[in-house]
Amino acid sequence: MNRRTFLTTATTAAAASLVTSTGHAALAAIGMEQAPLPYAPEALEPHIDAMTMGIHHGKHHVAYITKLGDALKASNLGAGNVIDLISDLSKVPADQKMAIRNNGGGHVNHTWFWKWMAPAGSGPKGPEGKLGEAIQGTFGSIEDFKKLFAEAGTKRFGSGWAWLIVTADGKLKVTSTPNQDNPLMAGIVEAGDLGTPILGLDVWEHAYYLKYQNKRPDYITAWWNVVNWDEVARGYAAAKA
Ligand SMILES: [Fe+2]
Repeated sequence: MNRRTFLTTATTAAAASLVTSTGHAALAAIGMEQAPLPYAPEALEPHIDAMTMGIHHGKHHVAYITKLGDALKASNLGAGNVIDLISDLSKVPADQKMAIRNNGGGHVNHTWFWKWMAPAGSGPKGPEGKLGEAIQGTFGSIEDFKKLFAEAGTKRFGSGWAWLIVTADGKLKVTSTPNQDNPLMAGIVEAGDLGTPILGLDVWEHAYYLKYQNKRPDYITAWWNVVNWDEVARGYAAAKA
C-alpha cells in the first residue's frame, strides 16, 4: 500500500465512523461528524484523567471540526478528504489557508490521537515485531527512542505535537511540529521532517493541565502507559507496504 492509498484508507475509515458518531447537530449540518472515543473517557485513568479526556474530545476537538466546517464553506470546498487538503494547501483560497491549516490539522491530529491511546494493560507494553526491531535499529533501543520522543515533546515551545514518522524512504524519524501542524503538511513542514505519522503526542496544555499543571514531562512519562502499540504497529506496516 503506498502512502496515498494508506491515507485514503485512513480517511475512509474516519468517514465510516459517521454511522456511530456522537451526533453533534452543528457538525451534521456541515456534513462532518466526530467519531466517538474508542474507550470510555475514564478508561485511561490514572494516567490521563476522565475530565481532561471529556473536555479534550467533547470541546476542543469539536471546536476544530466546527471551525474547519466554517472555513470549508467559506472556501466553497466540500468536507471531502481533509487529509489530502491539509497535505497540500495550494487548493485553498489564501484568506482561508490559516483556518484550514489550524482546524484541519486539529481535526486530523486528534482523530489519530484517540486511536493511538488505549487503556493501560489492554495491549503490548511496548513496540514489538517489525516495529520494535525498526525502532531499536534506528534509535539504538526502545528506551533511547522514548527519550528522544519525550524530548521532542518537552522541548516543543508552547503548543504542538511530538511525532514518530515513516519518511518517504521508509525510515523512522522523531519530529515535532508547532500548533496543529503535522508531518503531512508539505510546504509548511521542512522537507526532511515530512512523512507518515504513526504515533503522535499532543503537548498542548489542554491535553494535560488539569492533572499535571505545568509538569509536561510527568504527563509524557505517564502517557507511555496508554500508548496503543497495536495501532502504531498497524500504521507502521501500512506505511511500509
Ligand atoms: Fe489536543
